[in-house]
Amino acid sequence: MALTVSDLTVDTMEAKLGVLSKHAAKCDTHGDYIARVLKHSEKPTGCPVCADEAQKVRDQEQAAEDRAKASKERLERRLGAAMIPPRFAGKDFSAYRASTKHQREVLAVCAQYAEGFREHYDDGRCLLLVGNVGTGKTHLASAIADHIIRQLNALAVYRTLYSLMQYVKGSFDSQSGYTEAQAYENLIEPHLLIIDEIGATKQTEFEQATLFNVINGRYEQKRPTLVISNLMPDELEKALGDRVMDRLRENAGLCLVFDWGSARKGVVNG
Ligand SMILES: Nc1ncnc2c1ncn2[C@@H]1O[C@H](COP(=O)(O)OP(=O)(O)OP(=O)(O)O)[C@@H](O)[C@H]1O
Ligand SMILES: [Mg+2]
Ligand SMILES: [Zn+2]
Repeated sequence: MALTVSDLTVDTMEAKLGVLSKHAAKCDTHGDYIARVLKHSEKPTGCPVCADEAQKVRDQEQAAEDRAKASKERLERRLGAAMIPPRFAGKDFSAYRASTKHQREVLAVCAQYAEGFREHYDDGRCLLLVGNVGTGKTHLASAIADHIIRQLNALAVYRTLYSLMQYVKGSFDSQSGYTEAQAYENLIEPHLLIIDEIGATKQTEFEQATLFNVINGRYEQKRPTLVISNLMPDELEKALGDRVMDRLRENAGLCLVFDWGSARKGVVNG
């Protein structure tokens, strides 16, 4: 680039912007450019192409930072929406001690359900965790939810049967801010719904109908439900009715029986 005298003349506009003088300069990479000496600035301006490139890198870094922040916020929203009780928030598969063959099998099936969730989801395959108190059913269900939320960006929601009922009943109150249809929608939409503590109390007809609506609604959308209960499979069938059980069993639904002693009493070996 051949510079002319006029290129190095500071015009009135530039003077207004604080340009004191201009001179020819050379960038090792981009060649000739005009450097400007500005008022209040010790150093003359540098190569404009270098400045452009540096700005582009900063923009890209900022965009990557924004994306990471948005993705972290989405993850936090999903974790919040999952409503996993704080007691179980950090419980993962590695924290689950399996000392018997049966416990190792149960742990392996739960971990596989989480790892292979995409496929189980496509098949609408449900999972039933039933058995004794304190055997880690809620622990493993939380670990499954945590895995699919973090690793698969999926939506998992945890509810006890009681809180699920309260939530649906809550919609009958005109002040609640949500309709019954929205309540069902929110229970049917998640990729995985965990319903804990089924069969703890005798169900009313309303509760049976509500539970059927939720499980059937998910079944129609081919979305899996994870059901947890202290009842053994045959008792659970009586409590839920065979129409619900049939839907939970469809497409090779899995049922794991936790038949050892409670870890709450320090007994892990059953
Ligand atoms: N095998 C295990 N290894 C490590 N911790 C365990 C194990 N089993 C249970 N726990 C822990 O013991 C406590 C009770 O387990 P959890 O609440 O999951 O049992 P549960 O089967 O859901 O019981 P309930 O039927 O009474 O709801 C939790 O803190 C859980 O993390
Ligand atoms: Mg539990
Ligand atoms: Zn340059």
